[in-house]
Amino acid sequence: MQQEQTKKGGFTSGIGFVLAAAGSAVGLGNLWAFPFKTAENGGAAFVFLYVACVLFIGAITMICEMFIGKRAQANPVTAFKGISKKIGWVGLLAIAVPTIICIYYSVLGGYTVRFTANSFAGNANNFAAFAGSGWPVILFTALFLAFALVVVMAGVKGGIEKASKVLMPALFVLLVAVVIFVLCLGEGVSDGLKFFLVPDFSKVTFGSVLAAMGQAFYSLSLGMGTMIVYGSYTGKEINMLKSTAMICIFDTVVALLAGLAIFPSVFHFAAKAGIPPDNLKLEGMMLMFETLPKVFESIGFIGNIIEFLFFAMVVIAAVTSVISIMEVSSQFIIQKYGISRKKATACIAAILFVLSIPVGYSIGFKLNGTGKMTVFGLDWLSFLDTVTNTVLMPVCALLACVAVGWIMGPKRALAEMEEHGVRFHRFGKVVAFMLRFVVPVLIAVIEVFGVIDLVFPMGSFNLNGLGIVLVAYGILGILIGAYFLFYHKTETGTNADELLKP
Ligand code: PHE
Repeated sequence: MQQEQTKKGGFTSGIGFVLAAAGSAVGLGNLWAFPFKTAENGGAAFVFLYVACVLFIGAITMICEMFIGKRAQANPVTAFKGISKKIGWVGLLAIAVPTIICIYYSVLGGYTVRFTANSFAGNANNFAAFAGSGWPVILFTALFLAFALVVVMAGVKGGIEKASKVLMPALFVLLVAVVIFVLCLGEGVSDGLKFFLVPDFSKVTFGSVLAAMGQAFYSLSLGMGTMIVYGSYTGKEINMLKSTAMICIFDTVVALLAGLAIFPSVFHFAAKAGIPPDNLKLEGMMLMFETLPKVFESIGFIGNIIEFLFFAMVVIAAVTSVISIMEVSSQFIIQKYGISRKKATACIAAILFVLSIPVGYSIGFKLNGTGKMTVFGLDWLSFLDTVTNTVLMPVCALLACVAVGWIMGPKRALAEMEEHGVRFHRFGKVVAFMLRFVVPVLIAVIEVFGVIDLVFPMGSFNLNGLGIVLVAYGILGILIGAYFLFYHKTETGTNADELLKP
């Protein structure tokens, strides 16, 4: 049955699956969050910490999520129901989290498309003006969503796998090309490398540990349904252990390369222009859309070429992530409601597009300092990002581990994993112990400290933070309610409903 399904419409090869999952994992998180967090938290010391988190927490959670999908060969709701009917709502959460993320991620994706298209005309010094320009933002968001839509519409085998097999190697080649060029810039390069990587253990605090864990989850797309969904499209021939290792390595290498591309070029620019690098914005959206265009464009025409290659690479990273996000909700709608893939994906993309419009406006207002359109003191992007990544994502990842480690129980989980080709050999007991005790406790720590930091930033009470937390848990409550009202007793479909349709 599994084999039949993969032939009909799931991933057809191990490498196709790995590249698609790596496509989901590699995204803006690698390119603009990892490098800065590393520089800020002790360079190579943080990299060690991060790799440890990926190895001991991320990889185990990833295997768990893939396994949940693979054993069910179905969407997350059916998959969690298959473990226990009482926890089917975790599946709804796993669908809701990436869908909410998609609303703001698409706006950023739209920016990346526009920055690629504009590389030769010049992007420097007009970020705020573009972000606040209204229609162009909406247009580029639509364009970006359309790229993802075309791929998801064509299905897992004919769209996602095919696209990933072309796009992921292309991304890697582009990134390596940019890194090589940047490392040859000369002046300032070694300072950039020092800033990024020189280990400084004195900067590693409890906060760095939390940052490393949170970053590992976000970057590996854990707690967001995507690994469950992609896992569900794999058959017996795919080695989950090897695939997980490859995805984790690829994701980490891309994050490191991103740092090697970004900091040396920024420091080169700073040295030439005589600006202290600290005066440049080195983080997140501002790094990507304000500082880097200035840096590249200061190099002249070759700089424009590098800018183009760099942003094309960012578009690929973002689009392959959004593809995986869109597949999560599409799969559920297709399977639960028997709607065709084309209709389901088109409707989802249309809804996401409409919802992304106010997000685009809100970011524009923020960047132009008007203070309009905020929710609990944040622009819409930061609000949605906090609701999902700080509050809901850890809950979802934690429950995936609990579902396997506690509800299925270690004996059954290990035996079933073995049936699915995951053999831990002598390490079975260690893995089971990690899965039951270590990983859930650490994820719970991320959740608790994340929430405390929202409600009591710097130790004093913050009403807006409390508001955000309440909204997030309110969404969770609504999902639980919706599950017991609509999905608990009814069939919620499996992959066979789409893939084995006559
Ligand atoms: N992992 C992606 C990144 O690093 C983001 C992502 C979020 C992907 C949600 C899929 C789902 O940017």
